[in-house]
Amino acid sequence: MAVDCSVDFTGIHFENPFMLSSAPPTESESNIMRAFDAGWGGVVTKTIGLHPVVNVYGAKAKFMRTSPETATVSMKKTPNAALHSSWNWELISDKPIDWWVPRIRRIKDAHPTKALIASIMAGSGNDKELGNWQTLAKACQEAGADGLELNFSCPHMDRKDMGSNIGKDQGLCSVVTEAVKEVAKVPVWCKLTPATADIVVEAAACFRGGADAIVSSNTFPSLPLIDPETLDFEINVDGFVSSGGLGGPAILPLALAKMAQLTKAFPDKSFSGIGGITDFSQALSYFLLGCGTVQVCTAAMLDHAIGPNVIKKLNQQYREFLEKHEASDGWHSLEDFRGLRRDRVVLQSDIRRPNPSDYAGGYDVVEGYAAPDSAQATA
Ligand SMILES: Cc1cc2nc3c(=O)[nH]c(=O)nc-3n(C[C@H](O)[C@H](O)[C@H](O)COP(=O)(O)O)c2cc1C
Repeated sequence: MAVDCSVDFTGIHFENPFMLSSAPPTESESNIMRAFDAGWGGVVTKTIGLHPVVNVYGAKAKFMRTSPETATVSMKKTPNAALHSSWNWELISDKPIDWWVPRIRRIKDAHPTKALIASIMAGSGNDKELGNWQTLAKACQEAGADGLELNFSCPHMDRKDMGSNIGKDQGLCSVVTEAVKEVAKVPVWCKLTPATADIVVEAAACFRGGADAIVSSNTFPSLPLIDPETLDFEINVDGFVSSGGLGGPAILPLALAKMAQLTKAFPDKSFSGIGGITDFSQALSYFLLGCGTVQVCTAAMLDHAIGPNVIKKLNQQYREFLEKHEASDGWHSLEDFRGLRRDRVVLQSDIRRPNPSDYAGGYDVVEGYAAPDSAQATA
């Protein structure tokens, strides 16, 4: 039996489990066409909305680098520096839905075997805004989108009823998901913000509303550094900056921790992992935690805008990995190893000590104190 690199995720077939996430690489028809030609299994479009979008003056995204010589983290170009992260304060697509609809249709006509997920976003403060979610959902699915990703995670919105402010409110997560599910004929994924105390709470709310999958992580709230010479933020407009989003290698362990919380809490649900993926070794961590697809942004932005070399390497390394494990373990596809390390994330007190009876999670082991509950860690 030959190895099979394809996956079925929330009922959608993907030639491979690697997608471009909603971001500049998927902001135009030409980018998405190029991405599919290059070998990506799917894309999530740049988020589409109905409200006015005007970006800040100047650069909307920059990259931070670090080097062993100086150990600085900076947006300034230094020789031999390695990528640390991306930083952005870019809003959602500034193109209206009428611009997107014919393009989604043309892309799907040209690439019927590739998966196109439309990322959408509206407010949530009143019935008109809930209606806007439905308008966007209907327009995108009628144009041929295979699925919808609800943006509950954009970190740059001042509006209290939009973006990550929805993802921080379990009530809004449920209500908006339910409103979209009312009209959706295609699977609905919810992309959550990592900026909450317990992402399991918001994920549970999305599942209550009918979500078919949870997507995590969007960028983490962050500020650029202050230049020690000029005493100005490395990216600013007239000296001012606002909180933006951190992506790339720096967020990989943080995003994995969020994903582990999610997949352990809902082992039978579907998850798409994002954050700091450049090659297969990093994607593998998400798969072993239980993800059925992964998405890439920063690495693709730095590779000819849509990541032709990134996807070539991902596909090649994935096939080699499967072939190696077909020989040694009899694995043929992602389903044979997905989630294999999910249950290895446990409570501190469940980790072996030199003498196991020495530690009780910080509790004195005396009558009257709660014993550590290892069941909690695996619930
Ligand atoms: C410049 C830029 C714009 C982005 N725009 C969106 C967006 O419109 N919608 C969205 O859901 N996520 C957006 N993101 C977040 C990415 O899709 C992704 O979740 C994040 O960058 C983490 O992945 P990475 O570590 O591979 O970059 C954007 C990220 C960047 C860097």
